[in-house]
Amino acid sequence: MTTRFSEWFDERAGVKKLNEVLLLRKIPRGAGWLYTLGFATLFVFVIQAVTGAVLALYYVPSPDHAYETVRFIQYTVPLGSILRGLHHWGASTMVVLLGLHLLTVFVMGAYKHPRELTWVIGVALLLIVVVAGFTGYLLPWDQKAYWATTVGTSMAGTVPVIGDALLKIIRGGASVGALTLTRFYGAHILILPILFLLTIAAHLYLVVYLGVSVPPWLWESDKEELPEDEKERYNLFKKQGHPFWPDIVVEDVIISLVIFLILLALVAWVGTPLEARADPTASDYIPRPEWYFLFLFELLKLFPGNLEWLGVIVVPTVLILAILLLPFYSRERSRRLEKRPVTLGVGTLFVLAVVILTFAGWKSTPPTHVTERGIELNSTQILGRSLFASQCASCHGDEAQGTNDGPSLQQIGDLRDPAFIHSYIENPKALNPDAEMPASIPPPGEGQQVLTHVQVEDITQYLSTFHAED
Ligand code: HEC
Repeated sequence: MTTRFSEWFDERAGVKKLNEVLLLRKIPRGAGWLYTLGFATLFVFVIQAVTGAVLALYYVPSPDHAYETVRFIQYTVPLGSILRGLHHWGASTMVVLLGLHLLTVFVMGAYKHPRELTWVIGVALLLIVVVAGFTGYLLPWDQKAYWATTVGTSMAGTVPVIGDALLKIIRGGASVGALTLTRFYGAHILILPILFLLTIAAHLYLVVYLGVSVPPWLWESDKEELPEDEKERYNLFKKQGHPFWPDIVVEDVIISLVIFLILLALVAWVGTPLEARADPTASDYIPRPEWYFLFLFELLKLFPGNLEWLGVIVVPTVLILAILLLPFYSRERSRRLEKRPVTLGVGTLFVLAVVILTFAGWKSTPPTHVTERGIELNSTQILGRSLFASQCASCHGDEAQGTNDGPSLQQIGDLRDPAFIHSYIENPKALNPDAEMPASIPPPGEGQQVLTHVQVEDITQYLSTFHAED
């Protein structure tokens, strides 16, 4: 019965040939666990597609409803928080897996002849993932989404000559608003998925057509006698390898399951952030980009204001081209690690730079949520708190409890109004001729300014939260 059916079906659909090419094909000897990263990325892409499709059934892309529908998904829809969590953490996971996959291919020299195109398409996939992450970040329409997008898109405005036009095209207007949201949503659920499917199809086609590479230490082994001709050598390794189905698939599926469990654990224990509803007037909000943009964000700080566009446009473009075109200019013949010191050296420096910049960026973005004395501090007060710790705690104590050098400020919110506190921090002598406290913004000619007016206000807002009942 089954054979008769499969013959009937095969006569009409020719699946036997497909089966041979896709499933029964042999994977060359030496393909180990590092070779599962590509499949794992594909697996997470499927998670994104499935969870994304369900989220789209509830989500409304308009400033009036976006935030409420995301809250509804998070708190009311059965399993909604898990769906949204998987989609949220899946995005970061894809960046990690693709990054590791590209890194493995880079170290093993697998981007070399004849797999140059596979590499180019793989890098394009990473770019699409990052753009999908950027557009998806806006959709919950919370504070974090709104301000990160405002800052992120504003960078387009620094491009000379076409900056303004570019900014308007991306935002659909002068500022981030309803048109930005629909624009990002359209890109996120329509344009990018189509690009995804096309590039994934091309990538997989090439992987099947060319076969995965043999690890360099086996491919160019001095221990065994191997055919000189590349095709013959590859066929030999293939003969000694395992069939894709079931041997290799089992490894791929095990890794994918592990990743799925990690995702569920992240959803359960770390949770999925959703901040307050976007408030376009809350310009004191400290925007924080998604972690995989942090290194660029940090890099930008190295460029002075009028040269910012260099960091925004030139540096990323050069970087992307350098990675994309790698197989065409890095032309050492050998794939062996010890024979490619320059390529691997430059690669290591690049990865180190990205890691260090990411870490620096992560360290310098203040936390969004801080509760102190049972009060949830807003972003201004959080900034004020860290300024207080560095500028004032030496005399007033870590908890404003007072020291020998300065009085307690733990009731200052009751004793003084914000205007007084602000002025006192700027220049105590103006209010109290006997003041011993040093001025932060002394009158001209009377010393060094230590804080800006904005910083003084940040500290003032923080100190104003101190009341007796705390
Ligand atoms: C060198 C020690 C010292 C440092 C540093 C210092 N203070 Fe003071 N502060 C004092 C002393 C002493 C007083 C008591 C009044 C006076 O002598 O000025 C005081 C008083 C105050 C008062 C109360 C004023 C009033 O009359 O109620 C405030 C508010 C205050 N400080 C805020 C700050 C803040 C904010 C900073 C950090 C930017 C800071 N202080 C840094 C020593 C210090």
